[in-house]
This record gives sequence, C-alpha cells and structure tokens, in this order.
Amino acid sequence: MLQLKEVAKPTPKDDEVLIKVQAVSVNRSDWEGLRGKPLYARIGGLLRPRHHILGSDIAGRVEVAGRNVSRFQPGDEVFGDILGRLGGFAEYVCARESVLALKPASMTLEEAAAIPQGAVIALQGIRDKGQVQPGQKVLINGAGGGAGTFAVQLAKMYGAEVTGVDNTGKLDFIRSLGADHVIDHTREDFTKNRKQYDLILDIVAHRSVFSYKRALRSDGRYFLAGGSVATIFQILLLGPWIRGTTGKKMRILAVKPSLKDLVYIAELYEGGKVVPVIDRRYPLSEVPEALRYLGEGRTKGKVVITVGHNDT
Ligand SMILES: NC(=O)c1ccc[n+]([C@@H]2O[C@H](COP(=O)([O-])OP(=O)(O)OC[C@H]3O[C@@H](n4cnc5c(N)ncnc54)[C@H](OP(=O)(O)O)[C@@H]3O)[C@@H](O)[C@H]2O)c1
Repeated sequence: MLQLKEVAKPTPKDDEVLIKVQAVSVNRSDWEGLRGKPLYARIGGLLRPRHHILGSDIAGRVEVAGRNVSRFQPGDEVFGDILGRLGGFAEYVCARESVLALKPASMTLEEAAAIPQGAVIALQGIRDKGQVQPGQKVLINGAGGGAGTFAVQLAKMYGAEVTGVDNTGKLDFIRSLGADHVIDHTREDFTKNRKQYDLILDIVAHRSVFSYKRALRSDGRYFLAGGSVATIFQILLLGPWIRGTTGKKMRILAVKPSLKDLVYIAELYEGGKVVPVIDRRYPLSEVPEALRYLGEGRTKGKVVITVGHNDT
C-alpha cells in the first residue's frame, strides 16, 4: 500500500544536509522493497518495511547544511544514492554529505537522479570486479534496465564485445546503446547456446549456478548483482568449489557506495562517454504508477519522478 501523506520536514544531523528534492529515480530495489521480494529486500524489516518512504536516487538543492558539513552549502545542487536510509520519494530528505556529489552544470536534475545506483553497480561490476579488457566478450543479463544500460555503455567504453540480454521489446534499445549482440530471453537461453564469455554481469539471476558456469570461458568471471535468493545461495555455497575445480570465478557483486565512483561517472557524462536514459517521468503524486510501470517490465533505462514545489 502506498499513500501520499503530509509528514514533518526532516531535520539534518551535524554531518547531514537537508535536500529539497527536485527529481528521484525509481530503482528495482524500490520495487523489491515494496513487495518484500526477493527475501533480501526484507533485511532489517522481516515482517514490516524498515523504511516507510522509498526512493534512493535523489537529486536536488541543499536547503540546510549541518554544522559539520564542509563540502556543501545551501543552494548547491547535489545528487546521490541514499539506499541505506531511503526516503527520496518526498519533497525533502536528509542525507550524509559523504554520499552526495555536486551535480555538474551540464547535467539536468532528472539525469542526475537517473544515475547513482545503476551506474555505480555497472562501474563496480564492469571495471572493478569484471576488470574488462579490450576484445573480451561480456554478457549483461538485464541489459535494458537501470544498471544494465550503464553496464552496456561502460563495457563498450572499455573495449569489450558486448552481448545484452533482455525481453523482446528492449532489443533495439540495447543495440542503440552500443551492444554488438542481443539475446531475447523469452526465446533463447544464453546458457544453452554453447557461447561462452569472459565476463557475465547478471542483474536478474534466476538460473542454477551450473548453467552460468557453462556460459563462462575457462578463466571467466560471473558476478551476480541482483536476482533470486536461491541463486545467491548457490553462488555462495558452490562458487568457491567451482573456482577451485575449474578456475571460473563466480561471486556476488556486493556494491560499495562510492563517492569517487559517482564523481567518475559524472566526469564520463561530461565527456559524453555515458548517458543516462530516461524512459518516463511521473509527478510525485504518481509514484505508485511509476513503480507499477517498472514492475510490469516495460521500462527502458530509468523512470524518474519529478518533484514540484509550490514555491518554484
Ligand atoms: N549487488 C548490490 O550490492 C546491489 C546494490 C543495489 C541494488 N542491487 C540490485 O541490483 C538490481 C538492479 O536492477 P535494475 O535497477 O537494473 O533493475 P531494472 O531496471 O528492473 O532492470 C532489470 C532488467 O532485467 C530485465 N529482465 C527481467 N527478467 C529477465 C530475465 N529473465 N532475463 C533477462 N533480463 C530480464 C528487466 O526486464 P523487464 O522489464 O522485462 O522485467 C529489466 O530490463 C536489483 O535487483 C537491485 O536490488 C544490488
């Protein structure tokens, strides 16, 4: 159940800023938190949601800076991912300064909101853990969504031959991002077509660990960014054994919030190397419709909530 409610304006702690939210994007993590599925979405709130206001990828203007805040002052336009505390589907939210970056002048607030979570997952998966090298074959499962659209662009930027997997309606879109090959998951199982990859970044993992192993080259790497709890357990339990017996690395991608990464993505944006793709915009009053649209599986890239204020 989602309701639009008047609540008190939050007060920032000493190391926080109060942000007047201008735009906030919808992530699959919001959809998962709303439904309590997969089970990891219930961490910290097994029977009831831990946070009552969802929304983590925020962009807005600093209204008040706490007394220990040194990097920002009122009026600065900032953006970041507040996944640990949420509360972004609102007119105001507080955030620690350590998770926020200054928005580049050339970036719109909507674009800024569409970047943090998806882009950082993609960067840590492709560059840090995946260590993609020119010419390598990279497969991104869930390539048409929030993290996938960034992963395709980054893998191309690092010189890989990229295959994007998603549903029928998103294949042309994924090609337009630069993917060399696309696979429609409703018609073809990429783990059964005898092709193998140096890196698989899996944003929607639902298969058995042995299927993924089959699609990896002998020294290939597989990273699970999101998916079912059953697959996560299999990776945790069998990943080390598979590595020991075959050399194929199969791990969970535990994304670390990183201001450095956010700033790096902003630089790539300014250099025209990476673009956030906004599929639809909704007003704050239509957050339920925006979540439903994402949940129905039609989103190409990101859905952004634009937050109007009576005084602007
Ligand atoms: N690892 C970490 O530390 C960490 C941190 C933050 C978030 N996360 C997780 O990372 C994930 C990020 O997801 P996102 O925001 O990119 O989601 P998203 O925008 O919903 O994208 C997922 C994409 O996968 C597609 N898809 C669904 N089922 C598929 C299948 N069987 N095969 C291939 N593609 C399929 C979806 O298409 P449809 O539209 O048809 O469904 C969609 O295009 C979430 O699960 C989130 O919880 C992980």
